[in-house]
Amino acid sequence: MDGTGTSATDRARASYSDAFGAEPDVVALAPGRVNLIGDHTDYCDGYALPVALEIGCACAVGEADARTLDVFASDLALREVLDTSYPFAPEQFASSDAWFRYIVGVFELMRWANRREARGVQMAFAGDVPVGGGLASSAALEVAAATALEAHWDLEIDPLVKALVCQRAEHEFGGVACGIMDQFVAVKGRRGEGLLIDCRELSVRPVPLPEARDATFVLIDSGVERANRESAYAARRLACETAAEKLGVPSLRDADQDAYAPLNEELTDEERRAVEHVVTENQRVLDFADALGASDLARAGENMNDSHRSLSEVLRVSCPEVDGLVADVRTADGVLGARMTGGGFGGWVVALVRAQNVDGLVAQLGAAHASMRLVSGDGARVV
Ligand code: GLA
Repeated sequence: MDGTGTSATDRARASYSDAFGAEPDVVALAPGRVNLIGDHTDYCDGYALPVALEIGCACAVGEADARTLDVFASDLALREVLDTSYPFAPEQFASSDAWFRYIVGVFELMRWANRREARGVQMAFAGDVPVGGGLASSAALEVAAATALEAHWDLEIDPLVKALVCQRAEHEFGGVACGIMDQFVAVKGRRGEGLLIDCRELSVRPVPLPEARDATFVLIDSGVERANRESAYAARRLACETAAEKLGVPSLRDADQDAYAPLNEELTDEERRAVEHVVTENQRVLDFADALGASDLARAGENMNDSHRSLSEVLRVSCPEVDGLVADVRTADGVLGARMTGGGFGGWVVALVRAQNVDGLVAQLGAAHASMRLVSGDGARVV
């Protein structure tokens, strides 16, 4: 919802009509996500446990003149028109805004799936996922675009393939070497469930969320967005890869705690930190899933706290403002655990809070931090 109280779907549909003077052929919606635990593990073939949000990004699409890609981003009031006669190459868009690079990348890869038939499209987007907050607004945008094009062109694409296509668009056109978690949950999310993702097998196990009468997850905005997030993210990924290479394992999923013993002098400090974080975080994800399954909320909260400590102190992907917010939130009554979520370096925090204490926490945060209760939603769909 934006300030006008209308959903992204309604806004995408209305802005399509305003921009193009016609009704869209298809409107698709893809969710954002909150990751409950398991960050900086997906690109190491590890485990993550996100939940798809009810809020997402909507894409309205319809036929345009052949050879035209006409895109309207209603939230930004920006419009871009491209000639589609030739394949798009990432270098052409090096100076474009990220949102547009993602859309161009998805369009380019999807038209391959459509056997490169030259058919123009016009697209209007609207989104409710806070941008740059670690709630996967980019994946929601990519997957909404891919789902709308899939339906508009009558393609039937396996959802996992669609997630991989969107990840590839982000790598090649967005220049961000992300893992698969965000796109995966954007296609596979299920209302009311956490998704324990095995990022090597690309398989998923549903995990029950706490009963609403017992506890709920609350999302809180730190209001901070760090510069150079992308390069810091890329540096962590690189450290994981070079560490795996030195340890002689395919990825850090295969490392164990001996690998980061202080005596292992083969590894640089950065690499040793990466190994320690990934090995312990993978274990915490599995333990957290068991804890939720057993309704052991205290243990689940401890896992979240330990996860934050590792992300902040071992992998060093948090920042003082987020650490301060996490510490404050933990002092509120009924907070069982709190951690950063997503890629880090600013953004939102997720806390597990006893039901009767949620209002108190929100009051304690006051006007300083926007917050919302987790409302889960389904994966990408035509609406
Ligand atoms: C970003 C990436 C994901 C994942 C998280 C950290 O959201 O897109 O693939 O690596 O950071 O867990």
